[in-house]
Amino acid sequence: MLQVNVELQERRYPITIGAGLLSQVESYQPLKAGDRVMIVSNPTVAEHYLATVRQTLETLGCVVDEVLIPDGEAYKTLDSLNLIFSALLAKNHNRDSTLIALGGGVIGDVAGFAAAAYQRGIPFIQIPTTLLAQVDSSVGGKTAVNHALGKNMIGAFYQPISVIVDTNTLHTLAKREVSAGLAEVIKYGAIFDLPFFEWLEEHIDALIRLEQDALEYCIQRCCQLKADVVARDETEKGDRALLNLGHTFGHAIEAHLGYGRWLHGEAVAVGMLEAAALSEILGDLDAKDVARLEKLIARANLPTISPDGMLPEAYLPYMWRDKKVLGGKLRLILLKELGKAYVYSQGKEEQVLEAIARFTQQ
Ligand SMILES: NC(=O)c1ccc[n+]([C@@H]2O[C@H](COP(=O)([O-])OP(=O)(O)OC[C@H]3O[C@@H](n4cnc5c(N)ncnc54)[C@H](O)[C@@H]3O)[C@@H](O)[C@H]2O)c1
Ligand SMILES: [Zn+2]
Repeated sequence: MLQVNVELQERRYPITIGAGLLSQVESYQPLKAGDRVMIVSNPTVAEHYLATVRQTLETLGCVVDEVLIPDGEAYKTLDSLNLIFSALLAKNHNRDSTLIALGGGVIGDVAGFAAAAYQRGIPFIQIPTTLLAQVDSSVGGKTAVNHALGKNMIGAFYQPISVIVDTNTLHTLAKREVSAGLAEVIKYGAIFDLPFFEWLEEHIDALIRLEQDALEYCIQRCCQLKADVVARDETEKGDRALLNLGHTFGHAIEAHLGYGRWLHGEAVAVGMLEAAALSEILGDLDAKDVARLEKLIARANLPTISPDGMLPEAYLPYMWRDKKVLGGKLRLILLKELGKAYVYSQGKEEQVLEAIARFTQQ
């Protein structure tokens, strides 16, 4: 078992990482006998893990309620939020109750926002069950639901009191989802940490096989890197933006295809390559580093080329709509070298198109 502490100005909270944590009462600290909890999950995750979480909390002496929202990004909505509020109110939960998010990033984001808003804020515990949620969305306190006019448009910064990462949950996760999570893992190495990138080059096969030691170390390292950047910049006014490496390109792919065709991590994988290519065009990254990134992404069973039929020009309208656009120039996260990202605010269309073209089918 490993632990990472997220240190924020007002308080700190632990992320505990290990195999089998869901069935150990100690994992759920600071919950104690007599506490009331509401578990938020979806039918897919509930089928595998809800009974274990419920039983363990009951052994601890907690009083447990549950509410399920339908599975999928399409249900990351105000309606789902309302389902959670209705369940809390129907069972007379008050400000002493704790909300538990049991699921992937969708459940974490919706339940986190519900916890932020219910009676102006109740304690919240994250139990992320996808690799993406374990290394990324459960850390850092961003919560949100989607609006018909935009993704993640309604939300809040709201930190959990604890994050419990049981690596055993990954054994029921689809392989494609594991790979999508690995895209974010590779991202951390590329942005912040060349030694971790090198470690990934050695251990990517072990990670795909879900070998325990490799998984634990990997998740801990990613959580630490994210916790550090969140501690420096909780509300994304500076450094935290670096976590968006590959995301402006990736969002264009997701939006062009229609959300859900490619997984987010798959789009980010190609987006990182395009960002790396632009970094090379600008004279920062060596061609061999771009090739190294490409090889690692391919070994993680992620795509390394733009979707069929998507031409470089098709990226532009989405990229201009990005929240990071400033003063008529594209603002992008690029690499000075592997392990060192920076914000580039002079993005010009011709260079961006040239970079994308390197990873487009001819
Ligand atoms: N808050 C943040 O900082 C942040 C960061 C990144 C992403 N996100 C959000 O996270 C969401 C994506 O999260 P995700 O990739 O985890 O997707 P997801 O929550 O939709 O989970 C993917 C699929 O796996 C299933 N699943 C989850 N755990 C499982 C398990 N252990 N076994 C079997 N099936 C399981 C889910 O039910 C779902 O069908 C997006 O909405 C994105 O906006 C938020
Ligand atoms: Zn992402």
